[in-house]
Parts: sequence; structure tokens; C-alpha cells
Amino acid sequence: MAKRLKVKLETKLLLPKQRKALQEAADELYNMMQNGEGNFISKIWPTFNENITTPSLHIETLNRLGGEPGRTGNLVLAGRFVSTKYKDMLPSRPMIIKISPEPGMEGASKSRKWLLDEYKASENLYDQFSDSAHFALPVWVHGKEGGRNPVVLWAPLESRNPPYGNIRLQQAVDFMTSSSRLYFEDEREKILYRIISVTENLFEAHCVRNKTHREEVNIINHYEWELRKTLKHVVWVKAWKNLWGNKEKVVDFDRKDWPNPFFICKKLYEKVSFPLRMGHIHGDLHPRNIVFSKDETPRIIDFGWARPVKRGDSLQHIIKDFVLLEANFRFMTLPPFLAYESMKHFNKWLSIENDPVLTGDRECDLRMNLIYRLRNIAKQHVGDSTNWDVEYIVPLFLVSFGLLTKHSCNADCSWAARYTVLSLADYIKEKNIV
Ligand SMILES: Nc1ncnc2c1ncn2[C@@H]1O[C@H](COP(=O)(O)OP(=O)(O)O)[C@@H](O)[C@H]1O
Ligand SMILES: [Mg+2]
Repeated sequence: MAKRLKVKLETKLLLPKQRKALQEAADELYNMMQNGEGNFISKIWPTFNENITTPSLHIETLNRLGGEPGRTGNLVLAGRFVSTKYKDMLPSRPMIIKISPEPGMEGASKSRKWLLDEYKASENLYDQFSDSAHFALPVWVHGKEGGRNPVVLWAPLESRNPPYGNIRLQQAVDFMTSSSRLYFEDEREKILYRIISVTENLFEAHCVRNKTHREEVNIINHYEWELRKTLKHVVWVKAWKNLWGNKEKVVDFDRKDWPNPFFICKKLYEKVSFPLRMGHIHGDLHPRNIVFSKDETPRIIDFGWARPVKRGDSLQHIIKDFVLLEANFRFMTLPPFLAYESMKHFNKWLSIENDPVLTGDRECDLRMNLIYRLRNIAKQHVGDSTNWDVEYIVPLFLVSFGLLTKHSCNADCSWAARYTVLSLADYIKEKNIV
């Protein structure tokens, strides 16, 4: 007989169906540990013992632990099992618990699917890693396809503190933005290089079952999802078209003759099919999806966009994992007080074939060096020789253009985002790619 868990929750956080789903999930997980199933004891509660008859699950919000709630609509909590009877017994490892919204709420069924896909995609990756130390893959999901009740996904929580101490979350983004001023510069630089190095470990993921190959694709079609807001969202298309107009040339910053990024997209759509290097990707590799475990080791989390989800699904352009990270370094996390001239200088360095010419601005130069390192890792992943302007710079342009919409809400560096997109459009035009 299953022993019923008493789940201790912060009641305000959970709506009735979410609470019920979490209760069922926790009961089932506890039962599986009792029955020694699925390796859950070692993954979740190494000091588990069958005499724990009054377990409970302690839940905390991420904000209290120094993290941020997710942005994809799921409720993200931290929780650990404890024995209420044997107080001196070690609790379970802390877990991240992601719960999809109440049925009927906006986006509920989409979020359900995301969580189920996230689990499937990571399951697909599990057996591939000889060393999974750089990933925090989910260990279990409660919920089935086709249902309506919330889905509950469990993953090991990475924290800077030892597993049984207080939990303190830290994301890569903390070292990239102004809050990073809390760290000594040398220390911060080292950590930022380690964040870049995390992409080295994606190599095994990209080559799941040795499957990377070149495939002829239309680049705009392939990056449709990344471009969706800027190119398809009625309000934003209108806003950008108002700013940049419908003509081939755009007047902005100190030039009258920037190529219109919309026009470049149109041309790319008409023209550029190219054999891209395809494989398995994480699909959402940005600095909020890289967290630190103890000893400052960065780990990749959040496999909601990892593709393909199942064996047999179509492969993705592996450079997606690099250009999103580059865009984050180039303009999404820049300090707001950056000089215009530095930004201009920074954006003159675009070609993947050239070494960066440093600007003299510490923040820009650090980022250029980091990007240079990132690009070298990308080159190793791609492996063969290719037209880098198409394989890397065009995707960087498309991803940056797609981010423009989201980022224009953040006043701090929206101008840097806009400048970068225009510079990339200019580069593509100058190089006669379109
Ligand atoms: N395994 C983990 N270890 C530590 N923190 C995590 C972990 N998973 C998620 N988080 C924290 O929760 C936040 C949201 O989780 P995430 O999986 O990225 O969800 P979403 O898909 O909503 O972005 C992260 O940005 C991070 O702060
Ligand atoms: Mg995330």
C-alpha cells in the first residue's frame, strides 16, 4: 500500500488542480522509492530508508532562493523530501519542480505539452552522455499526453551550496549584468569563460547517435520560430515598419543608408538555401538557462526547447545553440551606460574569419574575447569547412532580429540590439549573401 505523503506547501502558490497533481506526483515518487524502482533513490534521496513513514515535501519559491521564476508559464518551485518523524535524518536532494497551469487557463495545454516534451527530449539525450555533469536533466515526469490535469516535472536542483545546506541559486546572467559588480573582476572573467566552455559539452548532445549531417534547408524557414515575433506579431511588425519603413534603405543612428532588415529577410527567404550542419540542439541556451552548482560549475538546464523531441524527428541547425548565446553577450546583457562609439566599434567585428580588434572599453572587450572563444568552439562542432557567413552570421542576424521585439521592451540596451541588427543586415548586404 502506498504511504500517503503529507505535502507541506505554501498554499497561496498552488491552485487546486496543481496542488492535486503535485500531491499525486509526490505520492507516486515516494512509492517508487519505497519499491526501489527507477533508480530514484540515488537520484533523489540517497539516504532514503524504508522506515520513513511520515515523509513530507517542503516547498519553497525560487525568488526566496535567489532565482527567478521561469518565463514559459509553468510554476517553478524548489522542494525536498524530509522525514517529519526522524528529524536528524538527512533530507532528500533539493529538486526543481515545474508544474503546468490549471486546466482552462491560458496556455495550459501548451505548457503541459512543453513539460512532456522537455522530459522526452532529455530522455533522448540521457544514454548519450559519458559525462552528464554539465547538464541538470529532468529525472521524472508525472502526467500523460492527452490529459488535462497539470503535468509535474522533477529535476535535480543545482545550487552553489552543498546539497543539504541552504539553497542558493545562481544563474549565468548574474555574472553578465550589473549585479556582477558584486564580484572581483578577475573572478568574474574566469566564471564567464567557464560559462562559454559549457558549450563544449554540447558536442555529445549535438551528435546524439552520431547524427549530424549537412542538409539543404531554406534558412528563413528553418529559423521561423526564432523570428516569429518580429516578423509575424501584428503589433510589432507595425512598430518596426513605422520606424524603419518599407523601403530598401533605412535612416537610423548616424546613417541614411542601412539596408532594411525586413528587406534582407525577404531576400534571404527568396534566395538562401544552404547545406547546414544539423544535429540535436538544446534550443534555448541563454544565460538564465545556465545555473551554477557548488564549486561554481556551470550546468545547463531547461530542455523545453531541446529538439528533436523523439527519435526520428527532424534535426536542427546546431549553430542555434551558439548564436543565441552570442546575442546575449553582444547586446542583451550590455551595461546601459555603454558609449555609442564603443558599440559602433564592437559591431564592426562581425566576420567569423577575423580576430576581434578590441575597443578599449572593458565590457566590450571582455565580450569580444568571450565571443571569439565561443565561435572557436562552434567551429570545432561544425567540423568541416563551410561558408561561415551563411552558416553563422545569417543565423546570428535572424536570431538577433527575432530578439529585437522582446528586447525593445527593455530600455537599457534596446538601442544596442537595434544597432546590432542593422550592422548584421549591412554585413549580409555588403558580402552579397543576398
Ligand atoms: N536544475 C535547476 N537547478 C537550479 N535552478 C533551476 C533548475 N531548473 C530551473 N531552475 C531555476 O528556475 C528558473 C526557471 O526554470 P526553467 O527550467 O528555465 O523554466 P522555464 O522553461 O520556465 O524557463 C531558472 O531560470 C532557474 O533560475
Ligand atoms: Mg528557462
